[in-house]
Amino acid sequence: MTRSRKSNRSGKSGAGRNPTGPQTLICGNAGVVGMGLMGSSIVACLLAAGHTVVAVEADPVRVRKAPRQVLSLLKGLREERLLRSDPRRIMRRLTISQDYSALRQSQIVVECVTEDLNVKREVIRRIEQAVSPGTVIGSNTSAIPPTALQQDALHPERILGIHWAEPAHITRFMEIICGEGTLPVYAERAFALARQLGKEPSLLRKDVRGFITNRIMYAMLREAFHLVESGVASIADVDRSLRNDLGYWITFAGPFRFMDLTGIPAYCAVMRDLLPELDCSQQVPPLMTRLVESGAQGVANARGFYDYTPAQARRWEKRFLKFSYDVRALARKYPEKNGSCIGGTVERTASDKQREARKQGLERRSTG
Ligand SMILES: NC(=O)c1ccc[n+]([C@@H]2O[C@H](COP(=O)([O-])OP(=O)(O)OC[C@H]3O[C@@H](n4cnc5c(N)ncnc54)[C@H](O)[C@@H]3O)[C@@H](O)[C@H]2O)c1
Repeated sequence: MTRSRKSNRSGKSGAGRNPTGPQTLICGNAGVVGMGLMGSSIVACLLAAGHTVVAVEADPVRVRKAPRQVLSLLKGLREERLLRSDPRRIMRRLTISQDYSALRQSQIVVECVTEDLNVKREVIRRIEQAVSPGTVIGSNTSAIPPTALQQDALHPERILGIHWAEPAHITRFMEIICGEGTLPVYAERAFALARQLGKEPSLLRKDVRGFITNRIMYAMLREAFHLVESGVASIADVDRSLRNDLGYWITFAGPFRFMDLTGIPAYCAVMRDLLPELDCSQQVPPLMTRLVESGAQGVANARGFYDYTPAQARRWEKRFLKFSYDVRALARKYPEKNGSCIGGTVERTASDKQREARKQGLERRSTG
């Protein structure tokens, strides 16, 4: 299925743009592969910021349903006054197809398919066949190191991780991860796009599984399961404690700023005694395995760590969206130093400079 499209290289129709971001758009044509939960909100984010978007999805049912989903996210942005333009007009800049060749004009393609190394490698292979050698290819993987995605690629230097957080059209989060073969110039292009989308990107100069937030979140999840499985506290008690402690300050300050704010030496003393007692298990917690084997997916099918009726599950989804907008508004009142993001230039080695010069020659030749 192909929906209508209209080129918009100026990127002027969206109001979700970051006023502190660069004035020059790094791209007007973006591609997204995989129109599931994240792909849909990433498409909404790109459209709201003025880009023309081509989305590729393998499942024909999802191809049919995706426009309604994206439209509803855009309407939400409009209701929150984060979008000036009419969502239906914006939808004209979206094309959804099952055919990868529709991506050929994309200056950046974000893959958002299932979290499986082989599936992602195959998708990247197909993207590379469709696009030009200078197109940035970002993987929205949760944890797969981009170096693993660069293996056997035609142009590994333009492949990197672009890790979004759900709901991607609202959150400020973005991690840009360089694989071993990524050239800095592509990380910088991804950074420029991130800022233009109103994100506050973080750069990972080295490729580590899980990146920043997932490494830290999964350490927390392991301990949360440990506390429940060893009978220290119930699921609801663990949730309540974290919401009211960590949840109270984490939008304001990261862990290091928080230690500065609350006195560093005490943390050193606690670490000495507590670290040896924290869970270090390398297995998936049995409670998690049982739940997944029972078919539970969470609010998506109203079966999770808590019981839901279908109506309650839908209410939780809506409340989460509303809360995301509220947190976004609150966080904007307390920006990082100078109200802008930090980082964004990537140091280059001599070999990076040589490879970039060769690559620029190749891009010039391919664009005639
Ligand atoms: N869900 C989150 O909160 C979240 C957060 C950060 C990162 N991620 C990552 O984003 C990616 C997608 O996650 P999701 O939650 O959107 O999953 P999802 O299952 O909702 O969506 C995946 C989509 O990819 C499509 N797909 C699969 N193979 C394809 C192919 N070969 N060509 C085209 N389309 C294909 C599927 O049909 C589906 O629509 C995963 O790598 C996940 O780890 C998810």
